[in-house]
Amino acid sequence: MLSSISDYPGYTELCRRAAADDACFAGIREDPTYSAVVTSKLHYGGRDCFAMLQERGFDPGFFAAIRDHDRLGGPTLASFGAAGMLAPQTMRYVKVLSDLELLFGALDGASIVEIGGGFGGQCAVIAKRFKIARYTLVDLPEPLLLAQRYLDALGIANTAFAELNALSVNAQYDLVISCYGVSELSRTFLVRYLQRVLLRAKAGYLLWNNEGMKQHRDWQQKFFGGEMVYCDEMLQLLPGARVAEQSWLAPEDQQLDARLILWGTRVK
Ligand SMILES: C[S@@+](CC[C@H](N)C(=O)[O-])C[C@H]1O[C@@H](n2cnc3c(N)ncnc32)[C@H](O)[C@@H]1O
Repeated sequence: MLSSISDYPGYTELCRRAAADDACFAGIREDPTYSAVVTSKLHYGGRDCFAMLQERGFDPGFFAAIRDHDRLGGPTLASFGAAGMLAPQTMRYVKVLSDLELLFGALDGASIVEIGGGFGGQCAVIAKRFKIARYTLVDLPEPLLLAQRYLDALGIANTAFAELNALSVNAQYDLVISCYGVSELSRTFLVRYLQRVLLRAKAGYLLWNNEGMKQHRDWQQKFFGGEMVYCDEMLQLLPGARVAEQSWLAPEDQQLDARLILWGTRVK
């Protein structure tokens, strides 16, 4: 049985190769097999996220601090006015960073865990803004190797890389983040992540995108052995969690019929 929608050999083997092979790493972010899982092509090209950041008065000076992030992995860049040239995907990561600042305040000194963090792009952006005490990435083994290569190349400190089973059973986290990660897990694995991570975090930010999977119940039965956990059920499993107002979601996320599940926020 698969643990998630993206748990298949073509993807994981490619991650393993990109972690070890310079030529493969150089083009990984636009590789069709890779970007089928960790999307680089966004419907709105990141412009919706940039518009939200501008409306919020986000400091455009920050973009200079992350310019080197898109020199790795060969993403296609776009021009974003005062922000300069950036991968649309990186703009999306900055919009999530801005959400986190507004919802949870400064993250200096925080212990953060991210589930399904792709090549580490979200982690890198957050680490350039805050002095994180510890940032733990939890993923399948091969994507973790790739993320380690990316984050090491950028000199991002205080990171840890772990598969689910390697996490301490007694760990506590200040914040758990998962953007299109836990919502792609099979029910069996989601329950394990609940016990090991989600219920051990004081605050949470989960972008949830599996409503469309309701049309693929046969596929789920075949590959997961049962049906996934959708947003409504998730809210019952997470004490104190709520769905954020639509205005928090970028048009890209709204187009995907995503939900943002939150708990432990400083604003209601
Ligand atoms: C759709 S991608 C999202 C990547 C990233 N969060 C982003 O927003 O760009 C899904 C992520 O979940 C990871 N994943 C797949 N199966 C997983 C599992 N069993 N446990 C943890 N992560 C998993 C994939 O390797 C990938 O990093």
